[in-house]
Amino acid sequence: MQTELDRTFGSQEVDPEERERRIRHVFEVVAARYDLMNDFMSFGIHRLWKRRLVRDAAAAAGQVIVDLAGGTGDVARQMASADRTVLIVDPSLPMMSVGRQRGLPDVTCVAGSGERIPLADGSVDTVTIAFGIRNMTRMAAALEEMHRILRPGGWMHCLEFSKPWAPIRPFYNLYSSLVIPRLGALVARQPSAYHYLVESIRRFPDQEEMKALMEAAGFRDVRYRNLSMGIACIHSGAKGAG
Ligand SMILES: C[S@@+](CC[C@H](N)C(=O)[O-])C[C@H]1O[C@@H](n2cnc3c(N)ncnc32)[C@H](O)[C@@H]1O
Repeated sequence: MQTELDRTFGSQEVDPEERERRIRHVFEVVAARYDLMNDFMSFGIHRLWKRRLVRDAAAAAGQVIVDLAGGTGDVARQMASADRTVLIVDPSLPMMSVGRQRGLPDVTCVAGSGERIPLADGSVDTVTIAFGIRNMTRMAAALEEMHRILRPGGWMHCLEFSKPWAPIRPFYNLYSSLVIPRLGALVARQPSAYHYLVESIRRFPDQEEMKALMEAAGFRDVRYRNLSMGIACIHSGAKGAG
């Protein structure tokens, strides 16, 4: 039977606000089992990718750091410490609430969306975003928002699925189209939500396209680092000094 989620992501014609509402619904229904599913789907490798992101961000004492689409707090938790300000900005109260139950000392959770980040211009030193940009209905607007809240000289680091190297692509496609939705049904009991995940990965820009989108949003020195043969990728870009 076709569900509301299948209809949303099978169609390009859904109104952006409706799409936003339905994506929020995806994370409401998967929140409790989200972390477990990540471990199953990636054999735990998502933890190494996130650690790499945190190392690249190299957050320092005194900084204000925003982990956009921070969800249950995997990235924010690693960056948090009493000598800096770490904020998660995410529209999903259930995801942040699961994060708080698991412990998020020295992290402040703020309900907000990437397309309208509730923070002042130039108020942030570092923005990180892990597996979040794909969910933004207006990705260009979200990149501009990240650029807006950064101070001149601040950096944004974005971890996301990307286009794997050609030799592994057939295996990867098979795994993501056959195994992930079944795992979603078995572990998270939400096959539609995980159909959405696979679909959103398939439609996401590749490494060079993402770089161009960041440059169009105003980022400078944009570079990327492939992870696990391009299955995931970290794009980094700076806000110009003047
Ligand atoms: C795949 S999870 C990633 C969570 C976390 N960053 C991680 O890597 O484990 C995607 C997150 O994006 C959030 N999200 C969805 N739409 C969003 C939007 N428009 N703005 C900001 N975050 C959004 C969801 O609520 C969810 O927590």
